[in-house]
Amino acid sequence: MKKHLLTASFTLLLSFAFAQKQNVIRPGEVWPDKDGNHIQAHGGGIIRLGKTYYWYGEERRPGLDTNYRYVSCYSSMDLMNWKFRGDVIALTKPDTVLENNKWVLERPKVFYNATTKQYVMYMHLDGAVKGVSKSAWAYDYASVGVAVSNRATGLFKLIKTFRPLGKESRDIGQFIDDDGSAYLIFECRPVKGFYIAKLSDDYLSVEKEIAFIQSPLEGGAVVHYKGLYYAVGSRLTGWSPNANKVATAVSLAGPWSEFVDIAPPDTRTYSSQSTMFIKVAGTKDTTVIFMGDRWKPTALWDSRYIWMPVQIGEGKLWLPEPKPWTINVKTGKWKQMEDKPAPGK
Ligand code: DGJ
Repeated sequence: MKKHLLTASFTLLLSFAFAQKQNVIRPGEVWPDKDGNHIQAHGGGIIRLGKTYYWYGEERRPGLDTNYRYVSCYSSMDLMNWKFRGDVIALTKPDTVLENNKWVLERPKVFYNATTKQYVMYMHLDGAVKGVSKSAWAYDYASVGVAVSNRATGLFKLIKTFRPLGKESRDIGQFIDDDGSAYLIFECRPVKGFYIAKLSDDYLSVEKEIAFIQSPLEGGAVVHYKGLYYAVGSRLTGWSPNANKVATAVSLAGPWSEFVDIAPPDTRTYSSQSTMFIKVAGTKDTTVIFMGDRWKPTALWDSRYIWMPVQIGEGKLWLPEPKPWTINVKTGKWKQMEDKPAPGK
C-alpha cells in the first residue's frame, strides 16, 4: 500500500514538474512540451493567430506507422511553453509514381488565409520515382503537396501535389511579409538557386516568381526588418550542418547582395540548419529569432532545435552563440538567462 502511495505521489510530482511553466528556451537541449515529451516539430513553420502561436513540423516520434508521414501541431502563447495539439495530417503515399514507402514529407508550413478562412499547408514531398530513380532513397519527385483544413489543429486533407512554377522543388520555406502577402521559398537544384514565389489569393497555388536567388542554398528563410529583406540559407550538405549564409535586398525582387556568413563558419552554424525566422514585434522592441534544426539523421526524432535571437540591422545579420534565453512576446524584449553554451557546439 505504502509502495503504491509512493509511486502515485512520484507520478504526480513528475507531471507537476512537467506542467511547470518554462521561462527559458535552451537551444540544443531536449525541449519538453506541456506533457513532458520532446517537441516533434522538425523543419517546422510558425504562424501567429491573435495571441496564439502555432508550430507545425515533421512528427518523427518512434513507433509511428511507417505507411504514413505525419505533421504535428503545437500551440503556445509565449513561444516557450508548447502544448501538443495532435498530428494534423497522417499522409499515405501521395502519388502512384512514387516507390512504395520510399518517400518523405519534409518541412511543412501552414498559412492562414483570412479571406477563405482556410489553413493551407505546403509540404516538401519527395522520394524515389518508379522507373526513374537509380537509388532507393533518391529525392527525384521534387514536388510540393498542398493540404487544407478549416481549423488550425486539423485535420488537413491533401488536395494536390505539383512542382511550383513547373520547377523541381526540394526544401521549402514560408515567408509572410508585413503587409500579409504570403510567399513560398523553394530550392531548385537544376538551376542552383532558390525561388521566392507569391501564392495565389486563395494560397492554393504558387502564382508568381518574385525572385530567383542564384546560389545553391536550401533551408531558405526570409525576414523583413526595418526596410530590408534578409534571406538565409544553408549549403547542400544533406543532414550535415554547414556555415549558413545571408544576403540582403531592399526589395524582395532584388537585387540581392552577395552571401556572407551568419556565424563563425567553423561552428557550422552551431551545428544547425536554418528553417525560418520568427519576428516578434512587441510594444518595446522587435526581436528576430533564428529557428534552426540540429539534425540527428540516425534518430531524427531526437533532433534538437537551435532557436536564438539574432543581431540584425543595417544589412547585418549575426547569430550569436546559442545560450539559454527568455522572451516576453508582449514587449518583444528578450534576454539571456545563464552563461551556458548549447551542448555539442
Ligand atoms: C537537408 C534538408 O534541409 C532537409 O530538410 C532534408 O531534406 C535533408 N537535407 C535530407 O538529406
